[in-house]
Amino acid sequence: MTVTTMFPQLRSVELAEGVRARAFAAGETLVQVVEIAPGAVLPPHSHDEAQAGILVSGRLTLLIGEEERVMEPLRTAYMIAPGVPHAARNPTSEPTVSIDLKRLVDRPCSSGFIELGDRKKTKLGLFNEFFVGDWFEIMISTLEAGGQMPDHRHRHEQIGYVIGGAAYRMTVGGEEHEHGPGDAYYAAPMVSHSAVNDSAESSLNFVAFIPPRYHRPADDGSPLLASVPTAGEPA
Ligand SMILES: [Fe+2]
Ligand SMILES: [Fe+2]
Repeated sequence: MTVTTMFPQLRSVELAEGVRARAFAAGETLVQVVEIAPGAVLPPHSHDEAQAGILVSGRLTLLIGEEERVMEPLRTAYMIAPGVPHAARNPTSEPTVSIDLKRLVDRPCSSGFIELGDRKKTKLGLFNEFFVGDWFEIMISTLEAGGQMPDHRHRHEQIGYVIGGAAYRMTVGGEEHEHGPGDAYYAAPMVSHSAVNDSAESSLNFVAFIPPRYHRPADDGSPLLASVPTAGEPA
């Protein structure tokens, strides 16, 4: 398989004992598919990059600042502002998988958990659910059997990763790949992309837009974010 920046290759890294990541670069964003073994711990740390992500399977206890939450797969996303300490552990006897984004962000960032809410959209055999942060939007996208994403482009960066299900034809910048579970793509700003699922099975995808594409943060006025106070904020 030809490996290009549009279809990045994943690289395996051990982050801590029992914590393995498959990582790839998508433009300025580091994307990590992280598997945490039963009982394994990601010790408290902080960094200059903003971080965000979602749990894909299993259960994960995530501590952000002072707030701790047991995350549910594909129901809760999280975001962590630069410098805010965070830690994670797998409290169960099953492995847990999350997909995390890390990058330097040139805008105000907040920290907290994001609930799914009712941000859903269906068209042309696509079923999408959204988690909206202040610098990113995560879309969990089901591409049904026979479904398609017509060719389009936009100013937002788009990062995709196939969580499971069928392989489909993914085209980015005119380059077509048979795209299956564990594969990733990156569409830089204004690079055209499309997808066609000719198979008899649906495909489950993680998609991130930077900045948010379909929703502005809290644009419906609902309290989406359980925010974590940062140092210097009035109590
Ligand atoms: Fe981190
Ligand atoms: Fe797109």
